[in-house]
Formats: sequence, C-alpha cells, structure tokens
Amino acid sequence: MEDRIKQIENEALEAINSAASIAQLEEARVKYLSRNSEFMQLLKSLGTLSPEERPRIGALINSTKQQLEEAFLARRASLSQSEQQKKIESSRIDVTLPGKGIKRGRLHPLTRTMEEAKAIFLRLGYEVAEGPEIELDYYNFDGLNIPPHHPSRDAFSTLFVTDKVLLRTHTSPVQIRVMEKRKPPLAIVAPGRVYRRDTPDASHSPVFQQLEGFLVDKNVTFGDLKGTLTEFTRQMFGRDRNVRFRPSFFPFTEPSAEVDVQCILCNGKGCRLCKNTGWLEILGCGMIDPNVFKAVGYDPEKYTGFAFGMGIERIDMLKYGVDNIRLYYENDLRFLEQF
Ligand code: DAH
Repeated sequence: MEDRIKQIENEALEAINSAASIAQLEEARVKYLSRNSEFMQLLKSLGTLSPEERPRIGALINSTKQQLEEAFLARRASLSQSEQQKKIESSRIDVTLPGKGIKRGRLHPLTRTMEEAKAIFLRLGYEVAEGPEIELDYYNFDGLNIPPHHPSRDAFSTLFVTDKVLLRTHTSPVQIRVMEKRKPPLAIVAPGRVYRRDTPDASHSPVFQQLEGFLVDKNVTFGDLKGTLTEFTRQMFGRDRNVRFRPSFFPFTEPSAEVDVQCILCNGKGCRLCKNTGWLEILGCGMIDPNVFKAVGYDPEKYTGFAFGMGIERIDMLKYGVDNIRLYYENDLRFLEQF
C-alpha cells in the first residue's frame, strides 16, 4: 500500500506540474483528488489494515493529500496568472496603427462661396440684410426704375404668382426695402435665392443664388465702386489676377458696368472657358440711379451710392472650373467631396 501511495503521489505531482492550462489542471484534480479517485478510495480502505499499520498509513495518506492540494493550488495560481498575461498580451492596443477615419461633413460649395463672398464685405464694414423670395412687382421692378412695359422687364423671365406678386428675379429689391426703412449712410449685402423662367442647361437654373450689395452716403464716387469691387475680386480670385470694368446697362444704375476677371484657366490668353476673350464676367454694378433714390425718398442731390449684384453659382463655377451648374443640385457625393 505504501508503494501505491508513493506511485500515485509521483504521478499526481507530475500531472499537476505539467498541466498546461486550467482545464488540464482540473482534469488532474478530478483524477487524483476527487472523492471517487483511486487515492481518496484508499482512505476508505484503511479499515482493512491491521491496527498497527492504520495510523502510519493514515498519516501518510493525509500528508500526501495535503502536499498534492498545495501543489494543485500553486499550479493553479501560476497558470491563471499566465493566462491573464496572455489575455493582456493579445488585447494590447498598438497605438501606432493608423486609426479608422471618421468622415467629416462639409459645407455645400455654394454655401461656402456665399459665406466667403459675404465675409469679404463684412470685413469691409458691410452688414447683411434679407428680403422675401415672394416679392411685390413694385420692389422687383418699379422701385428699381423698371416701369411697367419697360423693355428690360423681358430680360428677367419672371415667374408670376398673381398680377402684382412674383418670385423675385434678382436680389436688387432688397435695396429698395432697406432704403425705404433706413437713412444713409448704408453699406449692405443681401444674399438669397432668385427665380427665373429659364430652361435648365449647363449654365442656367430656374433657381439660383445671388449676392447683392450697395453703399449710400454723401460723396460716394465711381472710384469708390472700383476700389471696393477690385478688392473683392482680388480676395475672391487671387491678388495676381487682373480686373477690368466694362461699360454696360442696368435700369437701376447710371453709369453701369460689368466686372471681368482674367480667365482662371488660360490667364488671359484665350480659351474655351472665356470664349477666347481672356476675361470672365463675374458681376454687374453701377452708380445708383437718381430715380431709385427718388423712389425711396432720398435726395439725389445730397446722396450718391453704388450697387452690385453677382450670381453665386457663376462665381463658384468660374473659381473652380465647374462646367455644369446642375452639379450643384444633384447632391452627388463624388462632386461634393471635392470641395
Ligand atoms: N440685378 C442684376 C441681375 O440680376 C444684377 C445687378 C446689376 C445688381 C447691377 C446691381 C447692379 O445691384 O447695380 O442681373
């Protein structure tokens, strides 16, 4: 019996100490230390021994049992430590790996260009005003020196709501609304949507955006207009680009002009974009017509001023070489993500 106990002790110690995982260790525990194991059964057979042998063998079994239990506990502690170590190792984060990119939203190109244009004038001391998109024909036309039956009404293919109510064809009516309510000096920009009964094509949309601006004070000159719009154009299109003022006609300004910027594609040499002129037209402007001042009750002998209006889509198209206005309204991310 003593030999068998020694044998079991050796086998059990070997099994416990070589267990490579908690699971294997548990197998060894069941085999050698559980109630039904051969070793524990030996305890029960003590009764079959002679009274002289019984205490000695009993003591031997007990001390062996204690030794095995200690070995088991020690092995379990070291295995669980190393398993935890492995877990930590395998879940370690490599902070040098590239992260998952978080997609950032961005402003629509037209919103951005509108904000940029407004910001240039805000820095020059202008303030922002807005007017309604559904407008009286008085503000869209009459107040701006375009009487009924005036031929220039044809140029604005107007969408009428009723006889006297229409969708504004430009942001110029905001000039009249602001001047009716306030006295000079005034320096205002008016952003907003405008509507025209145009057939959509690569450069026309029935809805588009404009930025209007005007300044009224004593002694405002055409030189002030030129300086202001030259500075605007340089901030918008770059300092190294030439700007020119070309005579034009608008009913609400006299004299009137259009502003051209040197072509951004060919730098003035002539190409398809500038139709071989070397220049791109970016806005209309002029000195506010005395008839407009009379309509709002300003004395044209006392005050002078200038006004200007530009299409935001057109500015953005020219700035970035976008060749189809429809791209702005289709919400195709492949287009929008380029800005
Ligand atoms: N309202 C004009 C248009 O829509 C643009 C314009 C031209 C506005 C000259 C002005 C201006 O204020 O002075 O075509």
